[in-house]
Amino acid sequence: MTTTLITGGTVISATGSALQDVLIDGERIVALLAPGTTPLGPVTADVTIDATGKYVIPGGVDGHTHMEMPFGGTQASDTFETGTRAAAWGGTTTIVDFVVQAHGQRVQDQVALWHEKASGNSAVDYAFHQILGDVNDESLKAMQELIGEGITSFKLFMAYPGVFLSSDGQIVQAMQAGADLGALIMMHAENGSAIDVLVQQALQRGETGPYFHGTSRPWQTEQEATHRAVMLADLTGAPLYIVHVSAKQALARIAEARNAGQNVFGETCPQYLYLSLEEQLGAVSEEWGELEGAKWVCSTPLRSRAEGHQDELWKYIRTGDVTTVSTDHCPFCMKDQKEMGIGNFSKIPNGIGSVEHRMDLLFQGVKDGRISKERWVDVCCTTPARMFGMYGRKGVITPGADADIVIYDPDGHTSLGIGEGREHHMNMDYSAWQGYEIDGHVDVVISRGTVIKDETGYIGGKSHGRFVKRELSQNLI
Ligand code: URP
Ligand code: ZN
Ligand code: ZN
Ligand code: ZN
Repeated sequence: MTTTLITGGTVISATGSALQDVLIDGERIVALLAPGTTPLGPVTADVTIDATGKYVIPGGVDGHTHMEMPFGGTQASDTFETGTRAAAWGGTTTIVDFVVQAHGQRVQDQVALWHEKASGNSAVDYAFHQILGDVNDESLKAMQELIGEGITSFKLFMAYPGVFLSSDGQIVQAMQAGADLGALIMMHAENGSAIDVLVQQALQRGETGPYFHGTSRPWQTEQEATHRAVMLADLTGAPLYIVHVSAKQALARIAEARNAGQNVFGETCPQYLYLSLEEQLGAVSEEWGELEGAKWVCSTPLRSRAEGHQDELWKYIRTGDVTTVSTDHCPFCMKDQKEMGIGNFSKIPNGIGSVEHRMDLLFQGVKDGRISKERWVDVCCTTPARMFGMYGRKGVITPGADADIVIYDPDGHTSLGIGEGREHHMNMDYSAWQGYEIDGHVDVVISRGTVIKDETGYIGGKSHGRFVKRELSQNLI
């Protein structure tokens, strides 16, 4: 087996940073060493990578992606092949994608379909959550089987009536099963029936542009659903993870539940930390006219900068009430996809693509003095691995762990976007991050001991990534 030695870098973990060398044997990390030597003398390895002046961090773990997800009559534009390659470019070496069960579908059929899509087509390792869009006796029974297959978390929707929405009764049933099995219940917390009324009223007023997607999903609809989910989790004893939180009021409710000792966790995404409803309001372009704002249509929606959500979200990342930062990577092109919403924002497929940029965008938070570099590693790598039952293998640089490592240049530079010398690797004809400048750079990406990206670009194989069978969450009280 090939041995690799990474020398001269600063190894950053969730708890601290130190100048250390990292020795890899085959697919695993075997030792962290004082720079230059071991107690037995100088180390030799087949391959040596000089990381002098660089950060050596665990590969990113993105706990929320939607490759090839069917949505609103179309499908997310990244396949496992293109989406995981983009992840690799950006220093993410594990994704957790959502298997989709919509009304009328069988869970096990969908799991088989997702394995078929991902297997042999993934640049980095991948795991699955299960969306339960149809809670019934069969899908409740399937939960236990899936845990045995390494799919240990289940997403429910309080939004999207008629497609994914679960009634409160169904939520209670799934949560009871989650509590019995020790399995994490993930929640899309928006009051879908209230939103549907607000959407119809907006359209009747002639408010048809992309901006009105956001105004018809106000923070109250997110906070109300978050509160209801927290109370139902309290009632049933289920561990609860609220996905893609954007409203500061929802996060305050999550923090309150956590302070009360409940197993409740919050996830946010880069778009809610940087992008805002105000920018969406003014968005017009030569190419897309007033459809320009569709580039940032996602749910939960972007929130008003003036209302102060972003500062609060960063604060909750510092305090730990935001447990993880994932992307909710759900890319659609403008052409033929976002275009479906011309004249009616409710037809715009919901989602933003960021899987390539999460590590960079959160590192900018380090540069801007928002979070420490250790907290960066914690929310992007270590805690997602622990939250989703992969700790010890993923998200840490420690002997025995998979050698998933990123060499990050804290003095480098990355320009996000496409065109004019910029490029991204997601299968999208636009970038939600056009013009963002990052004061850092992903230099080298190693996945299970193999360098898959270096300064020359992506050098990994199409089928390097493997399915990760997950344990139950290791992050519960
Ligand atoms: O807009 C979003 N978030 N699209 C992806 C589906 C979901 O609800 O996570
Ligand atoms: Zn969702
Ligand atoms: Zn999502
Ligand atoms: Zn810069």
